[in-house]
Amino acid sequence: MASSAPSVPLEKVPILGKPIIHVGYDIHTHIVQTIINDCKSSTYVVVNDSNVSKVPYWEQLVTEFEASLPEGSRLLRFVTKPGEANKTRATKESIEDFMLRQGCTRDTVVVAIGGGIIGDMIGFVASTFMRGVRVVQIPTSLLAMVDSSIGGKTAVDTPIGKNFIGAFWQPQFVLVDIKWLKTLAQREFINGMAEVIKTAAIWNADEFTRLEVNANSFLDIVNNAQMVEYKSTLTPETYTISNTDIETILDHVYKLVLESIRVKADVVSSDERESSLRNLLNFGHTIGHAYEAILTPQALHGECVSIGMVKEAELSRYLGILSTTQVARLSKILVAYGLPVSPTEKWFKELTLQKTTPLDVLLDKMSIDKKNDGSKKKCVILESIGKCYGTSAHIVSDQDLRFILTDETLVYPFNEIPADQNKVIVPPGSKSISNRALVMAALGEGTCKIKNLLHSDDTKHMLAAVDLLKGANITWEDNGETVVLEGRGGETLTVCDEELYLGNAGTASRFLTSVAALVNSRPDKDYIILTGNARMQQRPIGPLVDSLRANGTKIDYVKNEGSLPLKVYTNSVFKGGRIELAATVSSQYVSSILMCAPYAQEPVTLALVGGKPISQLYVDMTIRMMDSFGIKVTASETEAYTYHIPKGHYVNPPEYVIESDASSATYPLAFAALTGTTVTVPNIGSSSLQGDARFARDVLKPMGCTVDQTATSTTVTGPARGQLKPLKHVDMEPMTDAFLTACVVAAVANDGQGTGNTTTIEGIANQRVKECNRIEAMATQLAKFGVKTQELPDGIQVFGLDSIDDLRIPSDSSGPIGVDTYDDHRVAMSFSLLAGMVNSQSSNKDATPVRILERHCTGKTWPGWWDVLHTDLGAKLDGAEPLASSKANSNKSVVIIGMRAAGKTTISKWCAAALGYKLVDLDDLFEQQYGKGTIKDFVAEYGWEKFRVEEARIFSEVIEKYGDAGYVFSTGGGIVESDESRASLKKFASEGGIVLHLHRDIEETIIFLQSDPTRPAYVEEIRDVWLKREKWYNECSNFTFFAPHCGTEAQFQKLRNVFGNFVSMITGKRTIEIPTKRSSFVCVNFDDLTEHVDSLNAITYGCDAVEVRIDQLAKFDDDFVSRQLSTLRTLTDGLPIIFTVRTKKQGGKFDDNDFVTLKKLFSLALKSGVEFIDLELTLPTEIQYSVLNNKGFTKIIGSHHDFDAAFNWDDGEWENRFNQALSLDVDIVKFVGTATSFEDNLALERFRFSHTSKPLIAINMGQLGQVSRVLNTVLTPVTSNLLPNAAAPGQLTLREINEIYTSMGGIIPKEFYIIGKPIGHSRSPILHNTGYEILGLPHKLDKFETDSIDEVKKQLLDGKKNLGGLCVTIPLKLDIIPLMDQLSDSATVIGAVNTVTPLGNGKFNGDNTDWLGIKNSLVSNGIPSSNIGVAGLVIGAGGTSRAAVYALHNMGCSTIFLINRTNSKLHDLKKTFPEDFNLVVIESNEDADKIQETIGVAVSCVPADKPLDDALMSKLERCLTKTSNTKFVPTLLEAAYKPAFTPIMRLAKDKYQWQTIPGAQMLVHQGVAQFEKWTGLRAPFQAIFDEVTKD
Ligand SMILES: NC(=O)c1ccc[n+]([C@@H]2O[C@H](COP(=O)([O-])OP(=O)(O)OC[C@H]3O[C@@H](n4cnc5c(N)ncnc54)[C@H](O)[C@@H]3O)[C@@H](O)[C@H]2O)c1
Repeated sequence: MASSAPSVPLEKVPILGKPIIHVGYDIHTHIVQTIINDCKSSTYVVVNDSNVSKVPYWEQLVTEFEASLPEGSRLLRFVTKPGEANKTRATKESIEDFMLRQGCTRDTVVVAIGGGIIGDMIGFVASTFMRGVRVVQIPTSLLAMVDSSIGGKTAVDTPIGKNFIGAFWQPQFVLVDIKWLKTLAQREFINGMAEVIKTAAIWNADEFTRLEVNANSFLDIVNNAQMVEYKSTLTPETYTISNTDIETILDHVYKLVLESIRVKADVVSSDERESSLRNLLNFGHTIGHAYEAILTPQALHGECVSIGMVKEAELSRYLGILSTTQVARLSKILVAYGLPVSPTEKWFKELTLQKTTPLDVLLDKMSIDKKNDGSKKKCVILESIGKCYGTSAHIVSDQDLRFILTDETLVYPFNEIPADQNKVIVPPGSKSISNRALVMAALGEGTCKIKNLLHSDDTKHMLAAVDLLKGANITWEDNGETVVLEGRGGETLTVCDEELYLGNAGTASRFLTSVAALVNSRPDKDYIILTGNARMQQRPIGPLVDSLRANGTKIDYVKNEGSLPLKVYTNSVFKGGRIELAATVSSQYVSSILMCAPYAQEPVTLALVGGKPISQLYVDMTIRMMDSFGIKVTASETEAYTYHIPKGHYVNPPEYVIESDASSATYPLAFAALTGTTVTVPNIGSSSLQGDARFARDVLKPMGCTVDQTATSTTVTGPARGQLKPLKHVDMEPMTDAFLTACVVAAVANDGQGTGNTTTIEGIANQRVKECNRIEAMATQLAKFGVKTQELPDGIQVFGLDSIDDLRIPSDSSGPIGVDTYDDHRVAMSFSLLAGMVNSQSSNKDATPVRILERHCTGKTWPGWWDVLHTDLGAKLDGAEPLASSKANSNKSVVIIGMRAAGKTTISKWCAAALGYKLVDLDDLFEQQYGKGTIKDFVAEYGWEKFRVEEARIFSEVIEKYGDAGYVFSTGGGIVESDESRASLKKFASEGGIVLHLHRDIEETIIFLQSDPTRPAYVEEIRDVWLKREKWYNECSNFTFFAPHCGTEAQFQKLRNVFGNFVSMITGKRTIEIPTKRSSFVCVNFDDLTEHVDSLNAITYGCDAVEVRIDQLAKFDDDFVSRQLSTLRTLTDGLPIIFTVRTKKQGGKFDDNDFVTLKKLFSLALKSGVEFIDLELTLPTEIQYSVLNNKGFTKIIGSHHDFDAAFNWDDGEWENRFNQALSLDVDIVKFVGTATSFEDNLALERFRFSHTSKPLIAINMGQLGQVSRVLNTVLTPVTSNLLPNAAAPGQLTLREINEIYTSMGGIIPKEFYIIGKPIGHSRSPILHNTGYEILGLPHKLDKFETDSIDEVKKQLLDGKKNLGGLCVTIPLKLDIIPLMDQLSDSATVIGAVNTVTPLGNGKFNGDNTDWLGIKNSLVSNGIPSSNIGVAGLVIGAGGTSRAAVYALHNMGCSTIFLINRTNSKLHDLKKTFPEDFNLVVIESNEDADKIQETIGVAVSCVPADKPLDDALMSKLERCLTKTSNTKFVPTLLEAAYKPAFTPIMRLAKDKYQWQTIPGAQMLVHQGVAQFEKWTGLRAPFQAIFDEVTKD
């Protein structure tokens, strides 16, 4: 028999008195009939977005609609582009124009099919078309079904804000067919659930409970949605769409939609215009909107509302209105439906691309909320699940909001708390008692209401297990505050199909192991599996298992011997009789057996063997609780540690109130002690089962408090402030967890006799291995308050302050700092008390507060602690942005790792020089600390192992101290050998530090080492060592630099430049600019770039970046690819690299499915600090997010290619892709279509024009599309004649593009001139004109020989309309200055103009590029461009000398020495420069001899064609010897270019081994700087140079 289709009833929900909301499943026929019968019209206009047209169900509906139309009616269709970006007035207008053109009149019915965007926009169209026509809403997204389609709010967005223009316009019908949800994308589905949960939370407690129950099945189904292909019959397309099996959970989905709609309809009906009640629907939205404003479009509305709800619920709790349990329920259900509950959740952070949500921005965003009351912010406050507090939103203070929004808490002095304050505080239930009560009630007979249960992982798993094993029926009362167990005396316990998953819940796993032995088999199954998370699978359970096995229960270890998972057989019997158990490790084993013992076949005698059992108190607790449940255990009178348990079963008491946790109770009690007020904990007293219940009596009382303890309650009243007495000695072994509380009380205890105020606490050794080493933690943090302590092996001594006034605000030299809490709830709660005592005797209300870090860690046992402290105990609290982010440090140190002989020493020096950082060689540091010799000596004395340990220690100390202080650390090659060092390296990298792997080809390293006689022994093993370490270098580093072998000094210097560029990029000192003007990149598609070194530079002429097509390479391994990048960098002078791996589907060669290699390649690209990565928008999101979340300073180009010309530029596909690019927040969008007609180019230009929110590269492939390449502005991809073939069809060279653009009028030809006299031999014309020619520019530079400035003004400045610029030479460099409207800094300081650039409107800028000629010549020969770190020397006192001084100062020369034949001229020159240039005139040989500084660069600016003065030469020689300590080869630049090798060069080079640079280079660099300034293009330097120096 065929199974019947799933069905749910069709329900009609009234709104504003009319039953117009219809909800059902698969009701398209009903929908069509309703519209046709109840909204009769001549014209129906169906509007939807292009995504909804792809849904098969849309086709079905529209086809049926068309077929059912009565005579005389027509159906029009209009499809909009999807996405919020199209919810605009422009789209509205286009729909209206369409309707007008189609002759729609007032009887038209508009049918909006879609999500909230369509619903809002079409509703608004209907509200104004012909003064209002009818609209029918067919919501298709969950959000639209339950929220936006109901209530009549309609709107469009404006650039100023969302939904700013709109109207209230009620629809005729809202026809909700939940079948639509089948195709809704998973994230949209979950997004809609936020509103559903919100509605239940504010209004419908029953529905909330129902949602809780069904959460798991919902998420399972939604997460398992498949992508399926669907071929439309209305269009020729095949679409890939999502398919969720909602039929499986149909009932649940139907109800959740229906219930949500009912509430919204109810609320709207009573407050249509949102004057009060409707406000409540905004629960979670005040804070949610603020997050959304920052995180959109990466985060969706519902996701932000989800976070907002949790925060607003926490606010409600903070204000004392909502209980902790309710907050926990809310956040649990949101998590269960796949929603985020905090902006810092890892997955959500990655989804939102690590965007931060600063406190001040959040508050700012909140201040523009529509609900606000003037400047006062309003929030909806929840009273309990299903009920709001009051009937509208409430005004809330910024202080309270700040507290809620941050994890760092400011505790103000407790100086406003009245001395007679008397409070009753109920801390959360005890964990130990909660778990025991659950086991006993589940095994007991009768109904037991358990109150004050602790909500923790342990109890959660315990309850789930009891439920699965059918031990008891579990229900909740009091809105989840009370759990009711209906026990059946253990009879119904039965095996279940599921494994019992217990997370990391220790107590639950131990207790349930014995319970499992009591479970009954089913005919088909006779075992159960207990399992847990990875940590649980390591925790011991062996002794308990041994004991149960000995008693007849068969148990197998499924994985690891001695730990979960366990397979417990249920066909064996729990025999009873004598059971022996080793109880020295955990008392939980004892309690586990004790609790189950009454159910054994025979009465049990439990003998604890192996010595004194641990934690006797807990065993006593179990025995006493068993008594409360009707089973009396007796201790053996003859044997120690032995108990008799009778046969029987528990009888459940009708009510069992879990005693509050006594450790938690110490905090409010200590509050009373410290502040001199009174606190009562009403359910812990002298008869308590918990050890910490003694705290009041044994600690606080002897310290001077009045303690009033009954059997069941404890009241503490502190002495007057400052009167607490130290406690000479206390053994806290029975209450170890309370020692932290004792410490903070002791910190202000004094005996008034100045004898040290010492409190000695012992018996707490176990506290060293809790969440942190608590003894050390207390000592460290107390010291911040000025309190001294002494750690003891088994305890701590606290030396109380003489006066509370001596308590200090924790601070360091930079100001107040936070109290660290080590993610330990007890540390945080203890210090929250001491924090309030600082300045608590002053009357200053605004005294500086104390900052406690990681407030949320108290959530482990007492999430509501801060609320109690604030609301019940009266403390003033505030929240604050973390200090770390306000003191952001951009000087993260650099650690350089790599094989020996990789060149670490050299690179480290370069690194320090490039960044201006201090350099430390860790091996040197080691030897310094060792003090007795070299590392070799140390190893000989202590061995390698010890060396590694010491090395790791030093490294971690150094990094701890100087990790943020701008250091370069050079390490020994073997540092990665030790686990500790690797951990430190990884930690440093993960915290934003730079661990740079210096990578050199291993074969080259071996050759190098073989040629070095001083390192023989090492060579044989080097390959093995490399093989061993390679993966470690990789995993520890976050950056890698590949250093190729340099054959010549020039290559070496180039490498230095390349490295400088690299390191300044990865540290963010150099930002990658995205061009805003016309620009291009060339696509290099060789399979091995190293075979084309001669042409690479020329290939990149004129381009702003170079793309390397990785998919075209011969190999993809790290070494090969690294070498390619390195080659490209070196040969193109650091031109920005675009790293592109083009997949086959997108037109490349890379395997479409090899995501493993692809990920590795992207990771290499990021580590190599490439400037740009091309990221295809069709890649799996997981890959995209892994790149985006690790991009550092690399810019991302989000690309999409339509090779098959499937989509024209008006298609919604491009819109979707653009929205996707926005949501991925890529830096540049690159869209490549294919032109099939010339008109496609015009459509593309319209697209370009209307998409300006991101830099957009948009082109059409194919010859027909070539014009789009000419019209594209930013980073147009180009080819080169020197490449074997173009990388894409239709690609042009830059020259071709410029020529075509010129012919279209895009580039106007300009006239340039060189002016001056004599200029007959000037090389400027050839220099510039060569450049124009190569790049296809229509410009020309001519000579204009004159020495008359008037002539220049008349003929050129005033006379040439198309003047492009002037090169100015002698004698006009000064004369031209008065004609300039603007002077550059260099022209001003140098005092001369050599470059004139028109500014338009007859105005001119005067610049000086001579200094750039000098600087760039030096830099291209390997001199650092900044932070040069040496003094400079300038020879001569003329105009060029001035430019040289300016250049050297710009490069960072701290002192510039000047020599010349005539000293007086030097003094004149010096006077005209600012003081900070630090010019020093060297008049004599004596002066020269006295120079202390290192001179590393020199520029000779004296004529070279005349004999040189002897005195000058002798001063010069002395200067040339001052080269000790240079980090590069000392270099002299000759400004004269005739002869090519001047006498000064000869002297410097031959006699003093200086590097010398001939003047021709300076000449060309100077001209090229002019060229680039005028054209905005990178000049073809080498071609120009060759041309200029040809003869
Ligand atoms: N008027 C109100 O009271 C109100 C309330 C809340 C939200 N809103 C507005 O609603 C809008 C958000 O609505 P949304 O979340 O529905 O976004 P949406 O309209 O963009 O829909 C989400 C996406 O899912 C697609 N889609 C919709 N139904 C589908 C289906 N059944 N199958 C496959 N794909 C489907 C859409 O085309 C879209 O791409 C916002 O503009 C917001 O301002 C209005």
